[in-house]
Amino acid sequence: MKILKLSKSVKVKVNPYVITSRRLFLSRIGTELLVGLLLINTWFSIPFIPFGLIMSSFFTGLIILVEKFFRSTFIKKIQSILYVRESLFDMLISLNLYEESNNLVINSATLNFEITPNNDVMVKVPLFGNKFLKLLKNLEEYLIPTLGLPLISKQEFPDCVIYKLGHTEKIEQYVLNAHTLTKEFFEDIPTPIIKLSNTQQFSLKSNTNIGIYGRTGTGKTIALQWYLFNALAKGCGSDDDTYLGIVDGKAADLYRIGELLHEELGEQVAVGSSPQMLAKLSRKFIEIMDARFEIIKQNSSLNADAYDLGMMTPNFLFVDELASIRDSCGSSKQGKELWNEILQNLGLIARKGRQAGCHLLLSTQDPNAENIPVELRNQISAVLYLGNPGSDRLRMAFSMCELENVPTVSDRKGEALFYADGLNSVEPVLTIVPFVDVKTKREFLQVVRNILPVH
Ligand SMILES: Nc1ncnc2c1ncn2[C@@H]1O[C@H](COP(=O)(O)OP(=O)(O)O)[C@@H](O)[C@H]1O
Ligand SMILES: [Mg+2]
Repeated sequence: MKILKLSKSVKVKVNPYVITSRRLFLSRIGTELLVGLLLINTWFSIPFIPFGLIMSSFFTGLIILVEKFFRSTFIKKIQSILYVRESLFDMLISLNLYEESNNLVINSATLNFEITPNNDVMVKVPLFGNKFLKLLKNLEEYLIPTLGLPLISKQEFPDCVIYKLGHTEKIEQYVLNAHTLTKEFFEDIPTPIIKLSNTQQFSLKSNTNIGIYGRTGTGKTIALQWYLFNALAKGCGSDDDTYLGIVDGKAADLYRIGELLHEELGEQVAVGSSPQMLAKLSRKFIEIMDARFEIIKQNSSLNADAYDLGMMTPNFLFVDELASIRDSCGSSKQGKELWNEILQNLGLIARKGRQAGCHLLLSTQDPNAENIPVELRNQISAVLYLGNPGSDRLRMAFSMCELENVPTVSDRKGEALFYADGLNSVEPVLTIVPFVDVKTKREFLQVVRNILPVH
């Protein structure tokens, strides 16, 4: 396929390309016409009939071959490159992204593109401090209709912008139950990855924490449970030297699940529902985190993390309904001190945990400053917002993102806006949180026993 190397750089100049789709089309018609003429010629000029028949079947075969060649995947690939190249070229001209002096092009914006194996188009736009800058930074408005493809992502760097366009795969929700959620599901998933849907994932290597927000009944606890199943499948709570903390401010579903796990797995699973317990558990979590930092320091070069070293099973601290914990602290002096200690501990974990494989996953109904103080909220770098938040809540929760093209969330259960590092997007994306349908204690324990790693 390397016979022909087409340039994928688009800028305005005179006679920019030798190969164009027009010339490709003309050469096809030309060749076929020529062979057609030769064919007709054989009928009139060769009197010896058998020889004439051989020649005419030869030329007919040649026409079929030429036609086949122009329909081959090789030519299709070339045609799609030419299509993108010429569309982008026309776009540059019509947007006036070049300068002319005395009929000579003296300056032109450049677009470098690449067509990926699944037919997405990546357009890399180098930036210079010239008058095209502003337009080049917002080129998606023109790229989408020019190529007729929706925008998948836009990444901005100091010296370039990379637009990715194409047809995104449809997101499918994982719906699992006690029979289908087994070891096999987790088999090929690397330690730092938690799958969220067929196309999306959460990387523990890129994210220390996640904040899960949404009104009552939108599915926060179910989302935390999904992360909990993943934590268990990775060995958290059962491997030596791991710690799984579970605090449920409402002493509801997650608390009951935590108790079952504590009975099943022992001391490495710690459960609570009061502010005192959260303070205690988070203190312990930090001790373990610090001990891990010591080990990492002794074992490795600068900047390695638990996942690079491949020797640490991740630890998790789950906090469901943080605002209820705050309410339980009350407004006495002691209560306030306790709340402050909790916030400090959680803030520290949220900030530092990743490198030691220590992760904080918390939920609260409303991410306003009262429920989750801004200092802590600003440390939350990944967010899952269930249901449809208003624009002020959107800005609070996703302060790390651009919010220009936020997708609309339908009222389907589990639908959420999601943002995390390593997602390849500057905006929150739509996701559907997996649902594990376990109704009884027995079913829950069946799943747990099925997914725990064997040693
Ligand atoms: N991802 C989901 N898919 C399907 N149904 C869900 C999902 N999340 C939640 N539900 C349904 O909604 C109910 C309430 O969810 P829950 O997690 O308890 O909400 P919250 O903790 O936000 O109050 C669940 O019992 C379940 O039936
Ligand atoms: Mg809940």
